[in-house]
Amino acid sequence: MEKFAITSYPINHLANQRWSPRAFLDKPVEQEKLVKLFEAARWSASGGNEQPWRFILGVRPDETWQKILSTLAEGNRVWNLEVPVLILACGNKISSWDGGISPYFQYDVGQAVAHMSLEATHLGLHVHQMGGFDAARAGELFEVPENFGVLTAIALGYRGEPDTLPENLKQRELQDRSRKALSEIVFGGKFGEKAYIVE
Ligand SMILES: Cc1cc2nc3c(=O)[nH]c(=O)nc-3n(C[C@H](O)[C@H](O)[C@H](O)COP(=O)(O)O)c2cc1C
Repeated sequence: MEKFAITSYPINHLANQRWSPRAFLDKPVEQEKLVKLFEAARWSASGGNEQPWRFILGVRPDETWQKILSTLAEGNRVWNLEVPVLILACGNKISSWDGGISPYFQYDVGQAVAHMSLEATHLGLHVHQMGGFDAARAGELFEVPENFGVLTAIALGYRGEPDTLPENLKQRELQDRSRKALSEIVFGGKFGEKAYIVE
């Protein structure tokens, strides 16, 4: 099942086709594809080129995968049991410029994961990011240093069939993707006033 974005204007096919499934095939992800995902993340932009992102990779059924699974909120764990790859995205909170908290580290890690997501689409894979996990527990399990935040868990693999999901999740899987209108998010003049380029 594809879930193309119903866009107001045509956009590139990767951004159009990326979406976050919950049904994944019980099929391993090839190692040569995995490294490309991290390579795409690596070449993302970051404030001051600090590259605060770090990733912890779990490949089912290795111990890292089991540990990441154990940190997921129940509502996420239920659809992750067969996901072939689980990743934790971490970020260095400290700026090397002045030793203070970087204002950008979360922004930068999110951007790197966005690059990873589009590369995944390019490779026929899907990414599903999750904030529903126990970041503190993940930090303990993987001995993440204090100056790093564990920001998101990421499910990755080949998309499966909605029928394999519990009924409530199946319905969500089948829903159209929706977004706010451009007029609600692109401003000119002042905040809240839609820019002239949008209808
Ligand atoms: C930071 C972040 C946290 C998210 N947390 C969860 C989560 O815990 N569980 C979940 O099922 N989806 C989660 N999502 C997925 C979003 O619900 C999804 O991206 C959004 O509904 C848009 O759908 P799309 O990615 O298919 O376009 C998260 C996404 C992001 C970026």
